Amino acid sequence: MIFHGHLNREKRGTGVEREQWKSQFGFLLAAVGSAIGLGNIWRFSYMAYSYGGGAFLVPYVVALLTAGIPLLILEFGLGHERIGSAPLAYHKVRPNSEWLGWWAVTFVMFGIDLYYNVIIAWCLNFFAYSFNLSWGSDPNAFFFKEFLGLSDAPSKIGGIRTPIFGALCVIWFVNWAIVYRGVRKGIEIANRIFMPLLFLLTAVLVFWSLSLEGAGAGIKAYLTPDFSKIADPRVWIDAYSQIFFTLSLGFGIMIAYASYLPKKANISKSAVLTGFINSGYSLFAGFAVFSVLGFMATSQGKPISEVVSQSIGLAFVAYPKALSLMPGGNFFGAIFFLCLVVAGVSSSISIIEAFTSAIVDKFGYDRKNLVTIVCVLGFFGSIIFTTQAGLLWLDIVDHFLTHYGLIVVGIAECILVGWFFRIRVLRNHINKVSTIQLGTWWEVLIKYFIPLVLGVILSGDIYSEVSKPYGGYSWTSLLLIGRDWVILTLIVAFLFSARPWKTGNNKMGGRSEE
Ligand code: PFF
Repeated sequence: MIFHGHLNREKRGTGVEREQWKSQFGFLLAAVGSAIGLGNIWRFSYMAYSYGGGAFLVPYVVALLTAGIPLLILEFGLGHERIGSAPLAYHKVRPNSEWLGWWAVTFVMFGIDLYYNVIIAWCLNFFAYSFNLSWGSDPNAFFFKEFLGLSDAPSKIGGIRTPIFGALCVIWFVNWAIVYRGVRKGIEIANRIFMPLLFLLTAVLVFWSLSLEGAGAGIKAYLTPDFSKIADPRVWIDAYSQIFFTLSLGFGIMIAYASYLPKKANISKSAVLTGFINSGYSLFAGFAVFSVLGFMATSQGKPISEVVSQSIGLAFVAYPKALSLMPGGNFFGAIFFLCLVVAGVSSSISIIEAFTSAIVDKFGYDRKNLVTIVCVLGFFGSIIFTTQAGLLWLDIVDHFLTHYGLIVVGIAECILVGWFFRIRVLRNHINKVSTIQLGTWWEVLIKYFIPLVLGVILSGDIYSEVSKPYGGYSWTSLLLIGRDWVILTLIVAFLFSARPWKTGNNKMGGRSEE
């Protein structure tokens, strides 16, 4: 698997150098690190539970095979063949589509990543709280009232929460320290440490939790298939959206990461491995989540359905409650929250890299100074989410960006490459360097199937958006925070793409033209 270990940078046409991964394994770990994140641990488990346990695996696996892996191959292939971060790669596909790449890296960096780091900060706080089970006998009141001091409307911002702010400083510092050191010495080394650590800690949690009394009941609830649920189109829509988010597709990350691969790189095999490792991890971590819920239900004499709660409540309310009841719960809790921190940071660094790499590709700025500026701006941008209205802002921004940002980028990406670029060129390139060969089926999925499925998801989202205000917020809050966040990032994207290229990168062709 190791290739060109000695080859750190590749000199191209105009003499511009591009950093490279030390090995293909390092690249794989980084891609897996980006994919496995906060979303894998509780979002997947909750979805699996609410959509019919084991039966959810059917749409989930179908979504992985028909959209997740094919799109991952597309993003890896595009970054590798066009040799560029998202805006450069899109520019080299069609100059007037450059804005799409800028939009992806901008709204993910100055949208998703801002609140994502705040959730990682909460996990760091809860890691510390675990040691003496600080949440006491009422974790719900502790989380919402004492910890978040949650206000009742997005306009009531209130004060900054000091513990969250403190943890946020640490998390942004860690992000900065890793990305600052570069692709090979920072991101690759960090993932070489983080990924084995994450797998080890998760395995400890899973095996420990399986030994708890009542674990069997939890596992049963997790995996017993209720096939009546898969007739509901909502399940399919959510399975496709989950696959999209969990594989970091439409973020511009996988394009940037693949651009750091040398000429010889096994593209399709890396995509298949990343897809399976990421989903396998979700499935595995789900055992720890559900064994603990089973334990709690048994020890409180309640049915499982009463102890399962939605995404954020699952990790910060239901889990802490169970930890207080469990022998050794403080250590178990510390490991659980540490897993979330590690999984979160390895995803967050990938987006900082995708944005930085886009700016360096176009303007040629000094990378190190740029990483510092981006992280400082990111830190300041995150502060709004540490206030008393933080959770409400987070909920709105997350809703708009994941529904209207990622999905739109996904559709546009398929149409652009499938219809306005010689997709055959890309397929031939991927086949030339990879062991797993792509047939015409791949082109069919990219050209027709994936845009169609994503189009259906988007229409469903727009329909429910206009029929009633999301999450019971006022229309004013939704428009001012959610819609305007989307519009603002779009404006920034157009401004970036209107600037002239300061490097000669846009003049260079792709690898298949060499
Ligand atoms: N794949 C990540 C997850 O499932 O949590 C998604 C992600 C979010 C990646 C935020 C990067 C990021 F900055």
